[in-house]
Amino acid sequence: TGPELFQPERPNSQGFDLHHTPTLDRIDAARDAFRAHHWFAQPLLAGDAAPQAEEPVINPALPEDRPGAVAPASAADVELALAAAAPWQAPAAERSRILNAAADLYEEHYGELFALLAREAGKSLPDAVAELREAVDFLRYYAANIPDADPAGTFTCISPWNFPLAIFTGQISAALAVGNAVLAKPAPQTPLIAHRAVQLLHQAGVPRDALQLLPGGPSVGAALTSDPRVSGVAFTGSTATALKIRAAMADHMQPGTPLIAETGGLNAMIVDSTALPEQAVQSIIESAFQSAGQRCSALRCLYLQDDIADDVLTMLKGAMDALSVGDPWLLSTDCGPVIDEQARQGIADHVAKARAEGRVLKELALPPEGIFVAPTLIEVPGIGALEREIFGPVLHVARFKSHEIDQVIADINATGYGLTFGLHTRIDDRVQHVTEAIHAGNIYVNRNQIGAIVGSQPFGGEGLSGTGPKAGGPNYLARFCAPGRQVAAA
Ligand code: NAD
Ligand code: ALA
Repeated sequence: TGPELFQPERPNSQGFDLHHTPTLDRIDAARDAFRAHHWFAQPLLAGDAAPQAEEPVINPALPEDRPGAVAPASAADVELALAAAAPWQAPAAERSRILNAAADLYEEHYGELFALLAREAGKSLPDAVAELREAVDFLRYYAANIPDADPAGTFTCISPWNFPLAIFTGQISAALAVGNAVLAKPAPQTPLIAHRAVQLLHQAGVPRDALQLLPGGPSVGAALTSDPRVSGVAFTGSTATALKIRAAMADHMQPGTPLIAETGGLNAMIVDSTALPEQAVQSIIESAFQSAGQRCSALRCLYLQDDIADDVLTMLKGAMDALSVGDPWLLSTDCGPVIDEQARQGIADHVAKARAEGRVLKELALPPEGIFVAPTLIEVPGIGALEREIFGPVLHVARFKSHEIDQVIADINATGYGLTFGLHTRIDDRVQHVTEAIHAGNIYVNRNQIGAIVGSQPFGGEGLSGTGPKAGGPNYLARFCAPGRQVAAA
């Protein structure tokens, strides 16, 4: 038997109750100190770095705001980091204590982290609260489950910008918990948050040669995934990048070097005619538009049963009208910016094509400035019409007749992705039939399909959506261990 999935002795982070006015006042006071702060990110190595020239970091919601600057890692820095990387040799209990201390430091610095998440990553306050909770949960969950096994050696951890604190921390803390040396490469869009997180981990007691930070773009990532001194890679990002990394590893690394890849999705939801419409609409809004649709788990294609489709669409359009799009610093904002101009352009091109074809059912207005995509509803014949993951607040909707449900399931499975899936129905047999037939890592019934909770909802996909094992679950740490040892909770 493996470790229990849910551990009462390791409660999840409490987070913040945003309905409680004194709590909101406390958050405002804490993050206001960082409203105009200027952060600086650079390589954090065991020795001295020789980083490249500084580049500005943007606030995607406010063109005039510059939250900071980054000096990316140079090729020399990558070499220095690889040469200096040393497994963390402290006993498991000490590693666990230090990771828990880092979790406490993250929680203490909530004001600064919420400010960074808003200004660098465009995160609304509810998103920032959820992200900090998830990061803290990863630290404590892995600290509580350290296996009796040897580390693989040096792990490269490469993360995306859309969970710049939670996923960045989740990968690193898993690799460190086992005692690996970590070379962390954050997304180029969000180096400031990563830099601050690594400073807090070092402050908690993680040695500098066990955790080094190498900010930069694809070239830094490519160098860190094509060196035989690296014993494993944890990657979260697009499927296309994962395929490039797999090819580079096959060319340059030892055979059998583990690649843990958590990638994209073309996530669907089926709402049948027995569903509770209000519950379904709330779930759809959250799944498609929270975090401006920039979640790998986000709903991309909604299937509505014909008999209820018009009614649900009327309610859905009304609920979209109530969404506030704008500066994520404001508590009134539901939907913040997309991450950068390149992302905006790609999504805008997709919407423009649908508009030209007369398939846009609803499109909200844009704020006057900043990098935004308006929440949009597009009609499609089925999920097969989506050529790629549209990573923003764009929801596609298709209709189906009751007898077509098996074809809908087959079409969803035929995408080859398998990350999240949502089902709204009040027929028990249908729940069983659909959830058994759908290929997806995380399946949600009669609720939204985002926001998996560490420890109780391990997260990860199958097929083009990832290699497994699921993050925040009992099998994850084993992949960071040297092969050939029995793994059990310490
Ligand atoms: P991306 O693939 O463009 O970049 C991810 C990371 O890979 C970045 O740090 C980037 O610099 C690095 N990178 C790029 N090219 C590289 C190369 N050749 N070698 C090594 N590293 C390289 O993805 P993104 O735009 O940052 O993130 C969005 C994507 O991430 C979406 O597809 C989303 O679905 C996916 N995602 C998946 C999960 C999950 O858990 N399954 C979670 C969050 C995001
Ligand atoms: N773990 C994140 C979610 O479930 C990606 O939304």
